[in-house]
Amino acid sequence: MICSNLSVNPQGHLCINGADTVALAKQYGTPLYIMDEDRIRENCRTYLTAMKEAFGDTACPLYASKAASFRQIYRIMKEEGMGVDVVSSGEVYTAHSVGFPMEKAYFHSNNKTDADISYAMDCGIGYFVADNYEELDAVERIAAEKGLRQKVLLRLTPGIDPHTYAAVATGKVDSKFGSAIETGQAEAITAYALRLSHVELMGFHCHVGSQVFDSDVFLRASEIMLEFIAHIKAVYGYTAPELDLGGGYGVRYLASHPEIDIAANIREVAAAMKEKCAALGLELPAVRMEPGRSIVADAGLTVYTAGTVKRIPGYKNYVSVDGGMTDNPRFALYGSPYTVLLANRASEDYEKDGETFTCSVVGRCCESGDILQENVILPANVTRGDLVAVLTTGAYNYAMSSNYNRIPKPPVVMVKDGESYVAVKRETPEDVCRNDL
Ligand code: LLP
Repeated sequence: MICSNLSVNPQGHLCINGADTVALAKQYGTPLYIMDEDRIRENCRTYLTAMKEAFGDTACPLYASKAASFRQIYRIMKEEGMGVDVVSSGEVYTAHSVGFPMEKAYFHSNNKTDADISYAMDCGIGYFVADNYEELDAVERIAAEKGLRQKVLLRLTPGIDPHTYAAVATGKVDSKFGSAIETGQAEAITAYALRLSHVELMGFHCHVGSQVFDSDVFLRASEIMLEFIAHIKAVYGYTAPELDLGGGYGVRYLASHPEIDIAANIREVAAAMKEKCAALGLELPAVRMEPGRSIVADAGLTVYTAGTVKRIPGYKNYVSVDGGMTDNPRFALYGSPYTVLLANRASEDYEKDGETFTCSVVGRCCESGDILQENVILPANVTRGDLVAVLTTGAYNYAMSSNYNRIPKPPVVMVKDGESYVAVKRETPEDVCRNDL
């Protein structure tokens, strides 16, 4: 199995964190998102421990909650002592509504509205990660109206190509995010921020990309950012107290994907940063990282019920399931790979045990692009009623789900110590019509 929290029980059923996914599908229905709470906590602790050990007590990981945002996640993050990265008033609202300590929340986005800024300040947001001049001006104005001095990090683009898919590469100079160091715009916006009286500049942020496997991406980014900090110190006499390196560690969707040793990687980045700081005559800043995918992806899987099995001799085969691009748009959007198997026949070696069936696993939306995965190998006798599991769906699945075709969203069921509970209820058709007049 591609993740250590997965196993197969004597009935041949796929289990996650000791819970039988077939039994959960029976209890809660399908499609069903299942998330392993213990794994989420373990992933948080990997970052917390590694960062504190490597960078010292001032370091803190911020969970990038765009990866999976619902109330229970923020409760878990609060209990684990994580900070969070939020990107909309909706995420601010969700975190605030469960008493997340908002001083540990960092508000991202390249286009925050005045309403976003004002609402987040009213919720006591810790930081804005300011992307541009318009936002700095709005923060300055709204903070002045409220009689506040607002902490801000500036988002910069270090000019690095992380070699991931285009939609998630953000650190290059031509990105829609942040101010480029290379063009001098980063320095100019820093000088501008330092002149504002209601903005307290706390340092800098960069995020190079997502689903990144190149181990030197954080090394290169941190080196460029530290050189920038040293330059700003020399020219303006301002020493940035914080440096936020963003998120991006890749996860294994397929057995052929490498497994990243995150703790070892963090240790390596910290050692290089300490050396660089010494060479530049800087104190090590308080370091932030913003993992999203690597906190929740391998904690999740989705279970569907197979319906139609269609064979087109000489052409192609299809297995249709009772969900699809509405609960997981990632293949449709990015061609993302996933491991797919039958949850109720997980011990079978389809390729060894008999005739196999190579198919596209597709959803039930009225659209040909509604594909969960292509070239999936299933047993030739796959049939209506079999349970199809898509693994590693904890990140950017529920978060990116939609009601296209008025399809209600599946519930999120959490498993803790082998016991399950509902974290997000299944939507009903009435829920989908809630705002219709
Ligand atoms: N920080 C910032 C500023 C980000 O933009 C992101 C992701 C993260 C942190 C978290 O990155 P992670 O650790 O999750 O790689 N929907 C796409 C992913 C979009 C990522 C956007 N930003 C997908 O499904 O692959």
